[in-house]
Amino acid sequence: MDDLFSSAFIHTANRTRPNAMIKEELKGLIADKSARIGVIGLGYVGLPLIVEFSLKGYNAIGFEVDETKTSEINAGRSYIVDVTDENVRTCVDNGKLTATTDFSQLNDCDVIIICVPTPLRKTKDPDMSYILTAGTEIQNYMRRGQLIILESTTYPGTTDEVLQPMFEEKGFKLDEDFLLAFSPERVDPGNPQYQTHNIPKVVGGVGEASTEVAAYLYGQIVGQVHPVSSARVAEAAKLWENTFRAINIGMANEMAKLCNALGIDTWEVVRAAATKPFGFMPFFPGPGIGGHCIPLDPHYLSWKARQHGFDSQFISLAEHVNSTMPNYVVELVTAALNEDRKAVNGSKILILGVAYKKDIDDMRESPALSIIDLLRADGADVVYHDPFVPEVTFDHAYTIGDGEPLYNKELTDELIADSDCVIICTEHSIVDYGRVCSLANLVVDTRNALSPEVRGGCAARVVRL
Ligand SMILES: NC(=O)c1ccc[n+]([C@@H]2O[C@H](COP(=O)([O-])OP(=O)(O)OC[C@H]3O[C@@H](n4cnc5c(N)ncnc54)[C@H](O)[C@@H]3O)[C@@H](O)[C@H]2O)c1
Repeated sequence: MDDLFSSAFIHTANRTRPNAMIKEELKGLIADKSARIGVIGLGYVGLPLIVEFSLKGYNAIGFEVDETKTSEINAGRSYIVDVTDENVRTCVDNGKLTATTDFSQLNDCDVIIICVPTPLRKTKDPDMSYILTAGTEIQNYMRRGQLIILESTTYPGTTDEVLQPMFEEKGFKLDEDFLLAFSPERVDPGNPQYQTHNIPKVVGGVGEASTEVAAYLYGQIVGQVHPVSSARVAEAAKLWENTFRAINIGMANEMAKLCNALGIDTWEVVRAAATKPFGFMPFFPGPGIGGHCIPLDPHYLSWKARQHGFDSQFISLAEHVNSTMPNYVVELVTAALNEDRKAVNGSKILILGVAYKKDIDDMRESPALSIIDLLRADGADVVYHDPFVPEVTFDHAYTIGDGEPLYNKELTDELIADSDCVIICTEHSIVDYGRVCSLANLVVDTRNALSPEVRGGCAARVVRL
């Protein structure tokens, strides 16, 4: 690591001539792998990305505000499900990867990629504070000759309206002194089929030189790069993708309610429709949407649209349908308990799976949190089992129940048998659903986790979404 940075300063001083042909210079550094890559924010997006560059032979520096994450990485350990310890260790041992909380080292980087969170404020407006903080750190330490790329999902215009002026304030000129681009991240945590290297990368620069160099950079680590004419197009493309998903999931959720009202099996309907080889893509209902992307990203788009006097109605409708799915699940549970002559109040309810999707540990925006909260507000005694999530905490500003933290319970026979109702919120593969059904009294399956065979031999009464 010392070698990496003692040589870095000499290297940097030699190569940064004012107004040099920044494009050719950076492409040369990228081509011979001497470009140093800095990644700001080492979470679900930043860590896989930096490891990919390091494995390809680039010296990479990760910048984090969370010291526990930098310590883990420097010790050769991963905390992200899609990144193996082995890969992190290899990169660290080879001197290709280091993590730091010292942002002055941004000055040593030829490329800086921003992967910080883009949450929503309580008002559901974009919270740009993380991008602004990262931009300020870059502003503090930037030098001529750097390529800066934003990967955080955000509204069209962020790269050229927010970041570009910050860097120009330093007296630097775009395309002469620095390059700036947006390239959306499409990583799908927990999806072993598609990972950073085989997900096509859309790249849009604020100017042609920026597009060209950023596309050239990503070409080193991904199989297919799709350059577009501007950062705004790339920003909008990402939001279109995730809005498409939010709206189609919203439709699937509405169809599930409709099919339930008609007494038709939702899952059989969608599988039948999906046999059409063109013009139909199946989306599946569930207890609501979660994660850092699908519930949030459409708001970035509708917020920006509102600034231009445009009201995006599909987005609002999907938001309403998806965000009220936890209430619908609670209605199903209430009705099912009622058939057993039981009230929610005082019932023992076991939630299976609290992460927002299967086989990962991410709890952000998980609909299970709302379901637990609604049930506790109605007086239920709720526990959960999720092998990926040891503890669940609640934000008191948003709870109507008691908001007390919950801890993972071991999935014992007694726990299942003693529950008045088991709700499958997340269908983790590791759970033996046959055993659950053989012991439970009542199962509400919001994910179609129970196969027809399991349902056929099931002792419990099963209610499906
Ligand atoms: N998680 C996904 O599946 C996914 C997929 C595509 C795009 N995105 C987008 O990528 C961005 C990052 O998401 P994520 O899931 O990786 O978030 P994350 O919370 O997992 O990681 C962000 C990291 O940034 C760190 N951080 C915050 N402020 C910082 C700062 N000023 N300097 C350095 N580090 C800082 C945090 O400590 C955290 O480790 C978001 O805009 C998100 O919408 C996420």
